[in-house]
Amino acid sequence: MKKVYVALSADFIHPGHLNVIETARKLGELTIGLLTDKAIASYKNLPMLSYEQRRVVVENLKGVAHVVPQDTLDYTENLKKIRPDFVVHGTDWQTGPQKHARESVIEVLKEWGGDLVEPEYSEGFSARDMNRYVSNVATTAELRRARLRRLIDAYPVVRILEVHNGLSALIAEKTEIEQDGVSRSFHGMWISSLTDSTAKGKPDIELVDLTSRLNTIHDVLEVTTKPVILDGDTGGQPEHFYFMVKTLERLGVSAVIIEDKKGLKKNSLFGTDVEQTQCTIEEFSEKIKVGRGARATDDFMIVARIESLILKAGLEDALARAEAYTGAGADAIMIHSKQTKPDEILEFCAGYREFKRRVPLVVVPTTYNSITEEELADAGVSVVIYANHMLRSAYPSMLRSAETILKHHRSLETDDYCMPIKKILTLIPDGTEGRGGPPA
Ligand code: SPV
Ligand code: MG
Repeated sequence: MKKVYVALSADFIHPGHLNVIETARKLGELTIGLLTDKAIASYKNLPMLSYEQRRVVVENLKGVAHVVPQDTLDYTENLKKIRPDFVVHGTDWQTGPQKHARESVIEVLKEWGGDLVEPEYSEGFSARDMNRYVSNVATTAELRRARLRRLIDAYPVVRILEVHNGLSALIAEKTEIEQDGVSRSFHGMWISSLTDSTAKGKPDIELVDLTSRLNTIHDVLEVTTKPVILDGDTGGQPEHFYFMVKTLERLGVSAVIIEDKKGLKKNSLFGTDVEQTQCTIEEFSEKIKVGRGARATDDFMIVARIESLILKAGLEDALARAEAYTGAGADAIMIHSKQTKPDEILEFCAGYREFKRRVPLVVVPTTYNSITEEELADAGVSVVIYANHMLRSAYPSMLRSAETILKHHRSLETDDYCMPIKKILTLIPDGTEGRGGPPA
């Protein structure tokens, strides 16, 4: 019996897949290399279904003898193990992000005289359109909440964008570019205390209360599907934090980040220019434990934010806190800095890498923003938050329009840089999107 190998993501099984499988099973005993989340994340968005869910589906397809994980887009490792006589793939991978994988398959097969068979790819089905449709109609609080941990496991670094209302959230949800054949988009959203407060014309001092923050959270959740991380400020008193965790988890928020300060909280980017007090390790550890006790699922993450570098308490203090907070049950650590260079963050990362017990590391490179995501990932960072850029870029543009109208006694001169009315009217979904059913 000849051996045949087909690699699949299998988020949605469609006739194109069945055509490939049909061709493959006629050639011999078929092994499916099922792409893991990590392999898929290397060239496109995470699938809706988990690896385990996809495995169950694929195992039950007619003609599939074995299913093995394929951990990279490159087939080499699995092919060398299995040494199939044939690899089958639709013609669609001759261009695009899988082109290199195809070339290496051809090279590797030469080692034992295997063949690549490429049935005509059936047009007419877009997995991407289907993915959009399903995520729009089928994002539940549970699925959204769990997605952040999946992203952290699958991507070298998770990219999060600040949002402060439904419109900015739609930008985080939908903005996508293609670079070197690979699609790039934001993985999730940060609801910042700074920008949520600023958008309401209020100072960032925990004045905007949870009820008001919840209105923003609802606005964001209502029009998006990506995971949300909430800036929970200090979390308030432990008893208050308990209820905050319950509410956020229930809504489908994936994580709350609380900072180890007490008293009147001021924004960290003031640094030591204003009076700010860090709480003791014991006080903050207690709050983390209360939060952990409040949550119903492991999916919801409680992230401990360390302010030692901001408050000039030193690297040793920051590392000691990281160890203690992790011990208290923090699901991730956020280390903050307001230096204009990444040096102290990188020093922290180097110290943190020595720890035996580590949870994912989160950073907010607002002031030290010359460093790239890749460099941060190399240092061991798992999540990068662009914490205020939607609001900071919107404000200058609004100010410009206001000044232009004052200057010209009319609005004609703003037309060049204002979005056309027609476009703004059609920018927003109209609430009938799911009505036509799935894409044909
Ligand atoms: C926020 O975005 O509100 C933050 C990050 O807490 S920072 O403004 O840098 O303190
Ligand atoms: Mg904040």
